[in-house]
Amino acid sequence: MLDKNRKIVCLILMGFLLVVLQFYLQQSTDPATEFTRHPSALQSSTSERYPLLKKFTTENLVEKNPPFKRIVFWNEAYGSKEYGVGFGRDALRKFGCPVWQCETTDNRTDILTSDAIVFHLRSWTKSDLPERRLPHQRYVFWSIESPAWREYAHADQADEFFNWTMTYRWDSDMAGPYGSIEPIGKVPLHPDEDQMKIYLVNSRKADNYAKGKTKMAAWFVSNCNSKSSRNEFVRELQKYIDVDVYGKCGTMQCSTTTDGQCRDMAAKNYKFFMSLENSLCPDYITEKFFVMMNRTILPIVYGVHDSHEKIAPTHSFINAAKFENVKKLADYLILLDKNDTLYNEYFWWKPHFKVMFSEVFKGMCRLCAALHDKNSPPKIYHDMTGWWEKTVPCLLSPKIV
Ligand SMILES: *[C@@H]1O[C@H](CO)[C@@H](O)[C@H](O)[C@H]1NC(C)=O
Ligand SMILES: *[C@@H]1O[C@H](CO)[C@@H](O)[C@H](O)[C@H]1NC(C)=O
Ligand SMILES: *[C@@H]1O[C@H](CO)[C@@H](O)[C@H](O)[C@H]1NC(C)=O
Ligand SMILES: *[C@@H]1O[C@H](CO)[C@@H](O)[C@H](O)[C@H]1NC(C)=O
Repeated sequence: MLDKNRKIVCLILMGFLLVVLQFYLQQSTDPATEFTRHPSALQSSTSERYPLLKKFTTENLVEKNPPFKRIVFWNEAYGSKEYGVGFGRDALRKFGCPVWQCETTDNRTDILTSDAIVFHLRSWTKSDLPERRLPHQRYVFWSIESPAWREYAHADQADEFFNWTMTYRWDSDMAGPYGSIEPIGKVPLHPDEDQMKIYLVNSRKADNYAKGKTKMAAWFVSNCNSKSSRNEFVRELQKYIDVDVYGKCGTMQCSTTTDGQCRDMAAKNYKFFMSLENSLCPDYITEKFFVMMNRTILPIVYGVHDSHEKIAPTHSFINAAKFENVKKLADYLILLDKNDTLYNEYFWWKPHFKVMFSEVFKGMCRLCAALHDKNSPPKIYHDMTGWWEKTVPCLLSPKIV
């Protein structure tokens, strides 16, 4: 769909070269490796993300009842300074953090006694910063939004300022992804091809997820702005199939009272759900995806960084960006709509995984654990914009074909 976009072609080429290079390096350093090695071996790195979430456990605690660390939430984040976890010595324990012995506060008095100060990027400003800082204090960069919304962020003024990052991105010091899809048993997130065939065949004996569904695709959208061309994408898709658009930017209204009930309604009546983000940035997958993955409906995403592929089971969602154009995607959806076997194969993973959401504030647990870890090395972000905006750039407003 984006083959006209040179940047993407470049990225894909570079990725390909890296894979080839890696392959040759492995060949040359390990003579025992045969050429018959299964291609899925190259995927193994993608399944190593979730263990990162387990890293900060009570192992970080040297003592059983350690003295509390102090975390100050400096500026406003979505109408409060609670950063999703609240205040006090009990906040992180109530929040379910394994290491919770940190006091959280928004009280700026006695700032020099704090161990970490958390700044919301969106309200960070040079004109309102602590007057003094001590060398052991960690300044933490916090954002749950993507860097595509540059007008709200000032990373460019924040070089040599932050010590740690806490965002949804997996390469943050404290990762807080919006959700996760983790194995309950031994089934891998990305089975190899042979295993996959078996799982897909077995899915035919399981529930019929197509049963009783009379409608094609639904989209819930409240923010009509986007940097991901999602409106254009849905409009194009509507040329070929029915996509009911609910909410402020659409024509349909969900008559039930809660968001959860609306989502249940969609899962009951529709085959597909548009889980489209407002921007196309690496790892930026919000609750829009996870809350529908936990239901009996097949999400359609638009992902250009393979982020969904990395954190969700193989063959569990449809990535529209992998299709040559919107027409081809529509043809495929029509095929799935007509063939319940093919449709149900997308739910093979349901008995083997659990979907977690509301995880986005869990980075705070990792912060508390890291503060208690005597081995946490000093760190400085010399080039904040480089990390936030350029490591792997967002794709802004792609042309939809
Ligand atoms: C902030 O902390 C100081 C010193 O502990 C205390 O005197 C003050 O009452 C606190 N402010 C608020 C708003 O709780
Ligand atoms: C549906 O797809 C399955 C799996 O590819 C195939 O075996 C079956 O013949 C198809 N059914 C119809 C009605 O096309
Ligand atoms: C996902 O759905 C299952 C089954 O309906 C439910 O038990 C579970 O609590 C849900 N998960 C979350 C995180 O809400
Ligand atoms: C945090 O960053 C500041 C400013 O770059 C630096 O002076 C300080 O040594 C760092 N502290 C730690 C503990 O990493």
